Amino acid sequence: MKIAIINGPNLNLTGKREPEIYGTQSFDQLYQELELHFPKVNFSYFQSNVEGELIDELQQKGFSYDGIILNAGAYTHTSIALADTIKAIKTPVIEVHLSNLLSRESLRHLSLTGVYCAGTIMGLGMRGYVLAVTYFVQQQKNVS
Ligand code: DQA
Repeated sequence: MKIAIINGPNLNLTGKREPEIYGTQSFDQLYQELELHFPKVNFSYFQSNVEGELIDELQQKGFSYDGIILNAGAYTHTSIALADTIKAIKTPVIEVHLSNLLSRESLRHLSLTGVYCAGTIMGLGMRGYVLAVTYFVQQQKNVS
């Protein structure tokens, strides 16, 4: 099974950026953990600070992958273009946020992208990515 992890702006700084909000673990560490815990899953990882590049990656993976885990960072709250892409592709998308958006500033309460996602996991730090992978793996077991 193929799962793509796509991270948006500033998530390359995770581990160094506002650790009291986003934690101290880097995505490199998380990625290694995922590969270890889910040896049968074929992962791809992409991060960009550029909106159009995130759209390109969603389009590229969105017709052949089994699941996409997306943390669009601040584009979550602003990008109708990313929301349209999630709606257009075939692969189900789970939105993950490290922080609990609902307990933060009101400008983060709205998710435009989440409208078209299969589900959203927020506030559980890096564990959210592990839970999203677990969901896709179990879903596949249920249908096969
Ligand atoms: C974030 C939450 C967003 O509001 C913020 O702009 C981010 C990270 C999260 O993972 O908690 O960059 O997506």
